[in-house]
Amino acid sequence: MKKLLFKNAKVVSAHGIDEKDVVVNAGEIFKVCEDGEGEDVMVNILEEGEEFETIDCSGEDKYLLPGLVDAHVHFREPGMTAKGDFASESAAALAGGVTTIFDMPNTKPATVTFEAFAAKVELAKEKCKCHFKIFVGAAEVDGKANLEEIKKIVADDELRRFLAGIKVYMAHSTGDMGASGVLEAMLADEKLREIDGRVLPIVVHAEDQECLDEFAEGFDLSVPGNHGKARPVECCLKAVKEACHLARKHKRSVHIAHVSSREELDEIGKFKDGLVTCEVSPRHLFLNDGMYEKLGGFLKVNPPVRSKEEVGELWKGVYAGEIDIVATDHSPHTREEKEGAGGGIAPSGMPDVQTLLPLMLNEVVGEKLDLQKVVEMCCEKPAEIFGLENVGKIEDGGRADLILVDLGEERIVGKGEAALKYKCGWSCYEGWKLSGWPEVVVLAGEVV
Ligand code: DOR
Ligand code: ZN
Repeated sequence: MKKLLFKNAKVVSAHGIDEKDVVVNAGEIFKVCEDGEGEDVMVNILEEGEEFETIDCSGEDKYLLPGLVDAHVHFREPGMTAKGDFASESAAALAGGVTTIFDMPNTKPATVTFEAFAAKVELAKEKCKCHFKIFVGAAEVDGKANLEEIKKIVADDELRRFLAGIKVYMAHSTGDMGASGVLEAMLADEKLREIDGRVLPIVVHAEDQECLDEFAEGFDLSVPGNHGKARPVECCLKAVKEACHLARKHKRSVHIAHVSSREELDEIGKFKDGLVTCEVSPRHLFLNDGMYEKLGGFLKVNPPVRSKEEVGELWKGVYAGEIDIVATDHSPHTREEKEGAGGGIAPSGMPDVQTLLPLMLNEVVGEKLDLQKVVEMCCEKPAEIFGLENVGKIEDGGRADLILVDLGEERIVGKGEAALKYKCGWSCYEGWKLSGWPEVVVLAGEVV
């Protein structure tokens, strides 16, 4: 593996931007040096006759960021590979500057047993082109939580390394994994609190099933525009309240996936003593319920996109630090499924992993967000919340996942260099002109 020297880089962290040289050796960041000193450091570690590669990072609009950590994706393997697979979706991730993903358990079979988890890890090892971890799903089997299956994974020295955390669906979504009854069992279990000295994350899809059942009545769900009315904010709030209450009762942290409203943020704000963290997905920041006319079933996601006003509140939550991280909930379906071919109802979900970074950078270019915040929410905090060591920061000894971005680069989503790599081949952002794209992506010291 060639050693790399990033020269004249503007290195971005959550706290600032510093001009540095960065020396990469054997997949790791060997040293972050003062600007201009990198070459000397490099020469010292070269073997005789060994050559290294220099990546010139100078240029007003160029910045060096840690690779993004996307803590919430559905890469659809095994069993749903018409929608996507580890190879295709991880290629899209890398093209978008995402170097680490955590895959969700609503595949076929669902990742709720030791056996299914082990099989998925094998598949991902073989096919996933970026770093990965895998969620195990909470499930109710014969009236009991699948705690023993999860404990078998935790007890396995090799498999445990790949465990992202436990995912609990409080309501049915794609895959019908709703199992709100087992959330308390997961939170209460002493043996699942900590593994290898780190908290085992519990991530909650917070929509309340009873509430959804109540609201869905009377709506023609084949009309995409009715989707949001049938899954209102109230149902999210009810589930968030329940999850936060249980977290406090058991003094056990939870992470709330994809918040979509001010109401949820206010509730979560009452528990910001380290117990409850939360994420927002790009769909809830960049899309809104005025777009059904244009996008139809393609806009359907769970929880649904909300009103423009609610989107404004979520952005306030980003600026104010009420929301910890951005994670995509990348969840592709085929075009035919989304179009409701054969009289079917469009399933919920959309691809997102390739456009996360450009969408965020475009906000930076528009002076609505600063780069430090992007690194905080897409790199540093997800690594911290999910206990990844040596990831998410550009520092000595860190894994060399690096992206050189160019804020001056303008591309149109779906065209030319911004062609979509998703197996499903579509995106709700197709045709959007965005400024700020990754130019060089480095995965564990390798330019990919
Ligand atoms: O929109 C969504 N799509 N929300 C979910 O909860 C699941 C996901 C999927 O897997 O399609
Ligand atoms: Zn999801």
